[in-house]
Amino acid sequence: MTQPMTQPAGAFNHPFGVAFIGSGSAKLGTTLSNEQLSQVVETSDEWIASRTGIRQRHIASAADSIRSIGGEAAKRAIAQANLTPADIDLIILATSTPDDLFGSACQIQAEIGATRSVAFDITAACSGFVFALVTAAQFIRSGVYKNVVVVGADILSRLTDWRDRRTCVLFGDGAGAIVMQRCEIGDRLLSFEMHSDGSMNDCLNAGYQTESVALIDDITTQTGHFNTVTMNGREVYRFAVNRVPEVLEKSLFHAGLSTDDIDWLILHQANQRILDAVAKRLGIPAEKVVSNMAKHGNTDAASIPIALDEWVHAGKVKSGDTLALSGFGAGLSWGAAILKWG
Ligand code: UT7
Repeated sequence: MTQPMTQPAGAFNHPFGVAFIGSGSAKLGTTLSNEQLSQVVETSDEWIASRTGIRQRHIASAADSIRSIGGEAAKRAIAQANLTPADIDLIILATSTPDDLFGSACQIQAEIGATRSVAFDITAACSGFVFALVTAAQFIRSGVYKNVVVVGADILSRLTDWRDRRTCVLFGDGAGAIVMQRCEIGDRLLSFEMHSDGSMNDCLNAGYQTESVALIDDITTQTGHFNTVTMNGREVYRFAVNRVPEVLEKSLFHAGLSTDDIDWLILHQANQRILDAVAKRLGIPAEKVVSNMAKHGNTDAASIPIALDEWVHAGKVKSGDTLALSGFGAGLSWGAAILKWG
């Protein structure tokens, strides 16, 4: 296991601070209900809802792409921040399902017309949004960039085996984004933690399947395709309910806060039972736990920014609120960020 990448509050002198000034998400038209899914595989609304909290998920149509839904979320976040795409210096896209394996962040840059910005992808599955947010903060705190868009977008239906009831009922498609901005006074990212344990990689992955193809003489090339998602659900569940409370407790400690200081707990939306177990372990009341599981299912890197955006737009998350975010999943990887919104 790697050593924790920890940033205790006040441990470093940053020339600048970070503010969180806008959020947005894409609206996908097609929904797939548990009832409909039970006509595809042997399952039921009762099983899915009681084991996961999911009632439906959104599915990308032929017209949707990471470029289009990521772009839509980014544009909404930029508008909410009262900026224009020309103001953006950096776009970081967290995704595991890019339209282009060489990266889709540049496609989003073109889609929204952020002509001045540099753009790149990061892949860290369900931890991707938290890892991208922390990455963005480093560029902002050092003074390199002022306005940064962090997008979490995934079309997991591309990697879903629709014959496997143990996984296909869980996932959905979506995109969310936030705008982070450099500020001269104060730093609204209070602390973060990032962890990886690659020894557990086989618990959850979508590996590349190779096949040897003779090229010439004794040289063969390895060509192939990506497999659909395979998961050891019980193992990942155990991992999540142990690691997530731990990483949140450490982050709160480094921020000099306690669980009572949290206004909203925004976890990766993997399973309502995981959300409930983490909240119970930390003693956080249910009304502070953000959940849109029923509507969206697990949208991978998009789940935290979509949930955040829905709570911001409903007027529940307000400027100055303390948010505790935690992403966890394939890698395995997990992380947390404690921040003040606004
Ligand atoms: O984003 C990354 C993170 N991913 C996660 O966090 C996933 C974490 N894991 C989980 O959320 C849960 O393990 C699942 C929701 C995936 C599964 O729930 P579970 O309570 O762990 O179920 P299980 O795998 O232990 O399966 C219990 C039973 C089995 O039948 P038997 O062997 O007891 O007869 C399964 O075959 O439920 C059966 N089953 C289903 N039945 C109806 C599994 N999937 C389904 C299904 N519909 N979709």
